[in-house]
Amino acid sequence: MAPADPILGVTETYVADQNPKKVNLGVGVYTDDNGKVPLLECVRRAEAERSKSGAPWSYLPIDGLAAYDQGVQRLLFGEQRKNVVTVQALGGTGGLKIGADFLRLLAPRATVWISDPSWENHRQLFEAAGFEVKSYPYYDARTHGVDFAGMRRTLEGLPAGDIVVLHACCHNPTGVDLSREQWSEVLAVVQARRLLPFVDLAYQGFADGIDADAYAARLFADAMSPVFLSSSFSKSVSLYGERVGAFSLVAGSEEEAKRALSQIKRIVRTNYSNPPSHGGQIVAAILNNAELRRLWESELAGMRDRIKAMRKALVDNIQKRVPGADFGFVLQQRGLFSYSGLSREQVLRLRSEYSIYAIESGRICVAALNSRNIDYVADAIAKVIR
Ligand code: LMR
Repeated sequence: MAPADPILGVTETYVADQNPKKVNLGVGVYTDDNGKVPLLECVRRAEAERSKSGAPWSYLPIDGLAAYDQGVQRLLFGEQRKNVVTVQALGGTGGLKIGADFLRLLAPRATVWISDPSWENHRQLFEAAGFEVKSYPYYDARTHGVDFAGMRRTLEGLPAGDIVVLHACCHNPTGVDLSREQWSEVLAVVQARRLLPFVDLAYQGFADGIDADAYAARLFADAMSPVFLSSSFSKSVSLYGERVGAFSLVAGSEEEAKRALSQIKRIVRTNYSNPPSHGGQIVAAILNNAELRRLWESELAGMRDRIKAMRKALVDNIQKRVPGADFGFVLQQRGLFSYSGLSREQVLRLRSEYSIYAIESGRICVAALNSRNIDYVADAIAKVIR
């Protein structure tokens, strides 16, 4: 019997809970102030257009819809580049798996380095692709910031050809990102040590904005090759179940990009043949139509701002109940998550006594807080930390 998934397994337990007050702060899903996953207006309009066209649902090419791949590449890198290959993937996870399988062909003996802590699925995914996975220091619980000296020291000691997984923004699970200066230092070490960077960009638009959040991806793509990158529209376009993501590879030349694409297509073809059409069509319409694109950006900004407001509400509410409790660091974290500092025991008490579900690491999804559940959650947290 395999253990339950540390994130999606929590949702399974949450779904089975009969308590009407239950709150799911586990999985990284944005819900609106009514506690519902939003259907974005840009998606509704793109779907209506598509449905009106009466177009059939044939197969997509192995590497996905061309208009989608091109639009994604412009979103990630600010422009289309001849030395970059982008293929549609099954969400960000699918993009990671295509990249992992490709890396296994290129660098079968490399070790994969993930941050400590990292998204729970990173380790499992790269191990499933056949790699040994180790971690580099990242989060410093004492300062609630990055242990940059530790991270740097470890990266500086790695052998050439090892793979380093980097969170481009909205670090999952901590919400703590590198500064631009730190990114430049990481790039310099990666180049000097000839490491293979794999950038995971699952939350573009949730920290500062679409272009600002692509900073690290563009920094690496401008400076070196190869760079591996997975990206996702699950959260940013609220298309979770449609599995809309991408894998991109920054190659050394146009010629190298073509050869890489031929290999990547074999990986896709032998796994699931070609990607699903519906979500890709919707995102392609949004990215390639100026009006839908503007609408999407404003809806995304709305989600980003609401999360920031919920961070503030959470901190204020806890501090009101537990004077002296220092939760101010939650305001500095970015994206959907907060590494709350709650211990495993406290997380389990929230679950058993209040039907509030968080990840055992103490990660909570701030994007699932709203004006109806904030008092209940703050009250419960106040009780378990007292
Ligand atoms: C999360 O971290 O909760 C999300 O990325 C969803 C997932 O697939 O784990």
